[in-house]
Amino acid sequence: LPFLSDRITNRLLTALPRLGLSCFGLSLVSGIILAFVYRPVGNVFQNVEEITTRIPYGWFFRQFHYASGQMFVILMFAHTLEHFLKRRYRTYSSREWAVLILSLCLCFFVLFTGFILKGDKEGIFAGRIFMNLLLSIPIGGGVLSRVFIVPGESFFFLPYLYHCMILPFLIGYLIRKHVREWMPGQGSFFWATMGIFVYALLIDPFMDIPPDAPVNAVKGPWFFLGIQTLLKFLPPLWGGLLIPGFLVGCLFLLPLAGPFLQRFLHYLLVASLLLGTYISL
Ligand code: HEM
Repeated sequence: LPFLSDRITNRLLTALPRLGLSCFGLSLVSGIILAFVYRPVGNVFQNVEEITTRIPYGWFFRQFHYASGQMFVILMFAHTLEHFLKRRYRTYSSREWAVLILSLCLCFFVLFTGFILKGDKEGIFAGRIFMNLLLSIPIGGGVLSRVFIVPGESFFFLPYLYHCMILPFLIGYLIRKHVREWMPGQGSFFWATMGIFVYALLIDPFMDIPPDAPVNAVKGPWFFLGIQTLLKFLPPLWGGLLIPGFLVGCLFLLPLAGPFLQRFLHYLLVASLLLGTYISL
């Protein structure tokens, strides 16, 4: 970081992964508490509204879970970005690099399934867009979509299963080496808990839009806005799967490419990231 001294930059870069892992722990604990009262079938929106307004401290645990989950993924993203910008893919084995990128993709998928689980208009739209994207795959799209989400009564059930069980377990397994290396000490755990606690206490939750409310445009989560913009101009298969899939594929391939191709892919990814950030803002 050019505007900070080396000592402060190094302290920051070692503190962030520890805070990120603390947030991972906090999101697991708050998620388990929410799972006691959340029902992924029937009228999910009404259930979530009951958690927010009727169940004692339900609003607090929702905010706590939201903030810890978001902070975990943002810090995990910052950590991966640091590796990418320092071109660590030149020294890492392709397996180590692939594990890092796969974990990051799974982290964003947990956030996405969490967004669906809100059960409001935005969540339902995100779920439907996801289902239609998978259905747009010419061969096997129908089968693949049923692995992740099915229409009707059980619409929220599979995202719930992925969000609460499969993905946290997979992420924990993939980053287990990191957990040992960056085990949060009492200090980082304390500061992460305090920060999230104060946020949950003081910041009002976002308004959940009822599924039948008449609204003109529905906004996706922040990390989906780049894809949402592509989908306005391109067919679903291209905007929603092939172009994002190509960029993620380039990220995976970095350690295997020769020096010239590596340079080219690096700048292509930096340009796409800047463009995506500009669109999202
Ligand atoms: C990697 C760990 C996790 C992350 C990053 C994460 C993140 C999120 C996010 C961002 C939301 C949306 C909240 C909102 O917008 O209001 C959410 C919802 C939810 N999560 Fe998680 N979560 C994680 C793990 C878990 C676990 C382990 C459980 C349960 C065992 C769980 C249960 C839930 C439930 C029931 C909801 C829906 C209720 C609501 O919207 O408040 N989460 N999660």
